[in-house]
Amino acid sequence: MSDFTLEISYLIASICYILGLKMMAGPKTARNGNLLAAFGMTLAIFTTIYLYQYENDEKEIIGLSNHIWIFSGIAVGAIIGWVAAVKVQMTAMPQMVSLFNGMGGACAALIALVEFPKALIHIQDPIWLEDHNAILYMSTILCGLVIGSTSFSGSMVAYLKLNGNLKKDIRLPFYNIINTLLIFGVVGLTICLAGNHIPTENFETWTYILLAGASLYGILFVLPIGGADMPVVISLLNSFTGMAAMFGGFMYDNMAMLTGGILVGSAGTILTVVMCKAMNRSLTNVIFGAFGTGGKAVSASSNGAAQKSYKETNASDLAVLLNYSQKVIIVPGYGLAVAQAQHVVHEMEELLSERDVEVKYAIHPVAGRMPGHMNVLLAESNVDYDKLVEMDDINAEFSTCDVVMVLGANDVVNPAAKEDPSSPIYGMPILNVEDAKTTIVNKRSMNVGYAGIDNDLFYRDKTNMLFGDAKKVLTEIVSELKNL
Ligand code: TAP
Repeated sequence: MSDFTLEISYLIASICYILGLKMMAGPKTARNGNLLAAFGMTLAIFTTIYLYQYENDEKEIIGLSNHIWIFSGIAVGAIIGWVAAVKVQMTAMPQMVSLFNGMGGACAALIALVEFPKALIHIQDPIWLEDHNAILYMSTILCGLVIGSTSFSGSMVAYLKLNGNLKKDIRLPFYNIINTLLIFGVVGLTICLAGNHIPTENFETWTYILLAGASLYGILFVLPIGGADMPVVISLLNSFTGMAAMFGGFMYDNMAMLTGGILVGSAGTILTVVMCKAMNRSLTNVIFGAFGTGGKAVSASSNGAAQKSYKETNASDLAVLLNYSQKVIIVPGYGLAVAQAQHVVHEMEELLSERDVEVKYAIHPVAGRMPGHMNVLLAESNVDYDKLVEMDDINAEFSTCDVVMVLGANDVVNPAAKEDPSSPIYGMPILNVEDAKTTIVNKRSMNVGYAGIDNDLFYRDKTNMLFGDAKKVLTEIVSELKNL
């Protein structure tokens, strides 16, 4: 009976994951989707703790008894996770995702390590071998070990880079050769161990060598990648963790773990592809190419931009312009998150709406530094979801609007993506802000954005630069609007 209840609970949990994931696709339902998936996971965890039964060495069917250890672990993890999630700054979200993803990879690798000694006994037991496939069983454990440890070490390097602890993109000499040899070594050793081609007495030593090799591969794989490319890499590592969990589910015959792992693995892969597509770059280019400045600001003057001239505006003139506009489109970018200006931008939007100005937000798929960064940022200040319009839908509307306010965005509005075949971002879909009657660009200087390239939009006739920290200038605009 408890087996049946357990299976039903796993089925419910899996349905919750799938529905939750579906709901996370839209900002209106994302929060509830997250809660639903979390409910599914909680159900799967507690039913496993109380209903899971297994055969011990004395051939008795027993349930889990080490509840104190289990609940202590859950309590420690839950408290750390809760505090980290509540305290994290929006701009530090990518590194937190990376850290949590690394923990998932470590769990999968630890599960494999714990199961390994049992597996060694099993594959030498002729009775066990009558009903089981030793190669399949070993492969499952070793794949969980290899993928989980690669994901763990890679995520930790990604975390250190994003957190600013590791500032350099380290590219070892003969990096590609070393990494290729290493990955072939890891795959070869996995095949030898899974196929039982290594004397059993040396199995344990070689398994630890495999663990070290896979962990080293994770480090070397992520080390040379530009800090700013990390979100794509994290998404890829996320899919690795999903796969590692999937192998765990397969090993334990645990449907909730299996579906969870498959969903994370496939969602991570799809997200990686979507992000690469939105940046018009291939995954190989992200992994092997040097794009962007790795977070370092390169002054536009170094690109020869100093000779070009641009126009400037100020908060008070802009407030008047906005006040007499009929339609305003706001383009949020990474700088808006840096400035933490989400609340004040919402206040400005409400003031304009009260004056019958139609206000919308144009959301570029890779604005900011992580998928959905702008949606999450604006949701924090309770911006109405209906006002957030995706790039494909809003692009035709720029020509019908009076003012576009580009707030801390740069690459996602760079016309070079459409006009300059020699540009590294050529082909990346962008927001057509230059179609509006007036384009206002707010940033602190003429410095470049993530891609490290100058932006011709700043020098165009219809563009006015509004220099300063986004929060500061928006606060000024709000107070000017209140006085009008
Ligand atoms: P960016 O091109 O990085 O430009 C952000 C701009 O914000 C900078 O030029 C900076 O100029 C300005 N800024 C920084 N702090 C500011 C502040 N406090 N107040 C006002 N402005 C500030 O950002 P974007 O347009 O959002 O484009 C995102 C880029 O990241 C794209 O190239 C994309 O491919 C890449 N990327 C995105 C993702 C995801 S998933 N979102 C993942 C990987 C890479 P100043 O220094 O002059 O102020």
